[in-house]
Amino acid sequence: MIKRQEYIKKLRQYWIQNEVPNITDENARFLRDLIKIQKTQNMLEIGSANWFSAIQFWLELEKIWWELTTIEFSEPSQKQVLENIKAMWLENIITSIRGNALFEIPKINETFDFVFIDWMKRRTKDFFDLVYDKVKLNWIIVVDDVIKFKEKMWDFWEYLEKNKLEYSILPIDKDDWILFMVKTKEDLEYRIEKDY
Ligand SMILES: C[S@@+](CC[C@H](N)C(=O)[O-])C[C@H]1O[C@@H](n2cnc3c(N)ncnc32)[C@H](O)[C@@H]1O
Repeated sequence: MIKRQEYIKKLRQYWIQNEVPNITDENARFLRDLIKIQKTQNMLEIGSANWFSAIQFWLELEKIWWELTTIEFSEPSQKQVLENIKAMWLENIITSIRGNALFEIPKINETFDFVFIDWMKRRTKDFFDLVYDKVKLNWIIVVDDVIKFKEKMWDFWEYLEKNKLEYSILPIDKDDWILFMVKTKEDLEYRIEKDY
C-alpha cells in the first residue's frame, strides 16, 4: 500500500498541475479538528474532485469507527476517486457515488453527523434543503467558499434568513471563508411548523 503522506503529496501536485480547486491546508486542518473533537462517525461530502479533501477527512475518521460517503458529478474525477480508494485499500469503507448530488441525495437512506458541501455554488440553496434532513440533530453542516461566491448563492442567504437558521461565517484561510452550522432542535421545529 502507498504511504499516506506520499499519497497526499501526489494529490497536491495533481491539484497544482491541473488547477483542481481542492480545499486549502488551513481548511483541511480545521475540518479535521472538527471531526476529531466531535468524534464524527458518519460523514457526507458533496464534491469529491480528485479526493484531496476526502483523504484528509479519512485521516481523522479512521481513528474511530467511521464511514465516509462522497458524491461527484464528473466522470473523470470520480474515476480518479475510485483509483485512489483502490490504491489505499479503502473499497469497503468509503462509498463514492457518481452523479448529480441533487438526484443522488434523496436516494440515500441514512443520516450523517457531518455534511461538507463543496460543489456547484449557484444551486447551494436547493442542495442544502435536500441535505438538511440527512443531518442528525445537534450535528454539523459546513459550506465552503461562501464569501468568494456570495453573489452566486444569493437565494441561499435569503433561505437562511427566511428559515431563521443560525450559522457562523469563519475566516479559516485567505482563499475563502466557510459557513458553519449546527442543526438544532429549534431550527427543526421552525421548519416543521412552516412545513418545509
Ligand atoms: C470545489 S470542487 C471539490 C473539491 C474537493 N472537495 C477537495 O477539496 O478536494 C467541486 C466539485 O464538485 C463537483 N460538482 C459540481 N456540481 C456537482 C453536482 N451537482 N453533484 C455532484 N458533484 C458536483 C465538481 O465536479 C467538482 O469536482
